[in-house]
Amino acid sequence: MKTNNNAAITAIATYYPEDILTNKMLEEMVETSNEWILDRTGIKERRILKGEGNGVSAMAIPAVKKLIEENNISPEEIDLLICCTVTPDYVFPATANIISDKCGLKNAFSYDLNAACSGFVYGLYTASQFIESGTYKKIIVVGADKMSSIIDYTNRQTCIIFGDAAGAVLVEPCSEEFGIQDAEMGTDGSGFQYLHQKAGGSVLPPSAATVEQRLHYVHQEGKSVFKVAVTKVAESVETVMKRNNLNVNDVDWFVPHQANLRIIHAVNERIGFAPERVTINIDRFGNTTNATIPLCLDEWKSKIKKGDNVILATFGGGFTWGAIYLKWAI
Ligand code: UT7
Repeated sequence: MKTNNNAAITAIATYYPEDILTNKMLEEMVETSNEWILDRTGIKERRILKGEGNGVSAMAIPAVKKLIEENNISPEEIDLLICCTVTPDYVFPATANIISDKCGLKNAFSYDLNAACSGFVYGLYTASQFIESGTYKKIIVVGADKMSSIIDYTNRQTCIIFGDAAGAVLVEPCSEEFGIQDAEMGTDGSGFQYLHQKAGGSVLPPSAATVEQRLHYVHQEGKSVFKVAVTKVAESVETVMKRNNLNVNDVDWFVPHQANLRIIHAVNERIGFAPERVTINIDRFGNTTNATIPLCLDEWKSKIKKGDNVILATFGGGFTWGAIYLKWAI
């Protein structure tokens, strides 16, 4: 039955590995320096998931378990779990199925969603549609990536950026004055060449040659991605603000994807949010792809007040991008 409900984030939990990869350690691995990394990206350190046989679900499962346990939810109550990732445990089945099984979500329908770094925002928006339509009442969206599994640690252009982590949110119905108010999403597949993994899919299945040519790693043409990221993030944020008559002072929190501190600053130069209203933790986590936004929400949740205007914004391979405007419901 169609409802008048909005969809709200009602709980958040995260998991990140203990092992830290510092800029100093990267200096020993590739031709780089702490100063260059800090100056060009804002990153000081990132988390790396170690341990043989540990896939992305080794982080997503503890995040989802924590979400359920801390909020006294019975796993059987969960209707749907969406796992947003570019580093699934396996090509198939979906990592979401594995997470649901290990967390006891016996009644959940579950699937993976791949929109590169924009996956979490795409997943949250997708979940909101199931809530607003009245189809489901409790949805978990988990953003998780083990980027270290697809990073070439001999390539200084990519290995300094990425880290591993997972974050999960619970999405539930709420009254119309709270929750997701609007979203502006976009995709441009012509940008795929600038950020992708060349082999391992059906175009170039794994072979001795693809391994030898190091084609199973992230390929990024950083400068080209940077420019489009700044433009598309700024445009989508401006669009939701305009459509909802929000000026910069009406926005209590801007929660951007953490890809590069300079991208966040360039977007904000254009929009003008007060610096203390912008969540930044890229210095400690690097770019964790699908986990960046839930990591920020978890860290800032004690500061964000009920009714605060929050804008989430993202950009990723594809190209994919989006901005969600929501009124904090908890
Ligand atoms: O999250 C999904 C979307 N991804 C993004 O949004 C990432 C967007 N791009 C970026 O964040 C940046 O482009 C990077 C951090 C990847 C690179 O920064 P940049 O300022 O665009 O550097 P660049 O690639 O233009 O390279 C500038 C110079 C080059 O040397 P030359 O040709 O000027 O002599 C590079 O070889 O810096 C060199 N360089 C490095 N030097 C030290 C590249 N990587 C490194 C490094 N250490 N790690």
